[in-house]
Amino acid sequence: MEIIIATDYEEMSRKAAAFVADLVKKKPNLVMTVPTGSTPLGMYRELVQMHREDGLDFSGVTFFMLDEYYGLSPQSEGSYYSFLRNNFLLPIGIQNGQFQAHEALSPNTAATCLRYEKEIAKSGGLDLVVLGIGHNGHIAFNEPGSPFDSRTRLVELSMETISANARFFKSPADVPRQALSMGLATITGARKVLLLANSQAKARAVAMTLQGPITTQVPASCLQRHPDFTVVLDSSAASLLESKVRVK
Ligand code: PGA
Repeated sequence: MEIIIATDYEEMSRKAAAFVADLVKKKPNLVMTVPTGSTPLGMYRELVQMHREDGLDFSGVTFFMLDEYYGLSPQSEGSYYSFLRNNFLLPIGIQNGQFQAHEALSPNTAATCLRYEKEIAKSGGLDLVVLGIGHNGHIAFNEPGSPFDSRTRLVELSMETISANARFFKSPADVPRQALSMGLATITGARKVLLLANSQAKARAVAMTLQGPITTQVPASCLQRHPDFTVVLDSSAASLLESKVRVK
């Protein structure tokens, strides 16, 4: 595990973007996940700027969504599909075939989740999973209690996640209660994992993930065992870590 501590959100975003850009340059047909939420917005802004100003080329990259609300139309404002399309994929000129989305309206979730896993395998497997983290230690929508051997599936959202995400909807009642999410085994099966976290509100989840026991109660703690795991934090998110961590 490598832990990189940035001074603030902007520096965290620049370091994360540089990490992704470096991999895209080394492997133009990279297969990677795209996370949603407030955390990666700065990284996306940096990557869009690198695309526009320095010609960073994403035309060979394949993107997989990590998760999506179940039952929400991809065209609706609150969907993760809309978020990713508007904040990252359209500005970097991504074509439809390069982006794999969860089928959030599928009545047969078992079949669509299996199809998703097959698409990942068909693409050669995930080179890079980029993740944010929830206050409760979730990654993608793998809430506490999610099995470490879980694959893409329909999940129930915790009350904590529903209230944390209510800011993206008119009211908490509008937040969907279920989602499709890559599983923990799908995530840990990637060749590289990059986790980002900023703000004091994430400090406890970060400390438990990186330095606490490996337990399904803190889903992200499974990443401690990953052989190629990088964490980029701002100083607030790192504030509860013990000083013995290796810092770059
Ligand atoms: P956030 O969400 O970036 O909006 O804090 C992260 C997450 O829940 O995984």
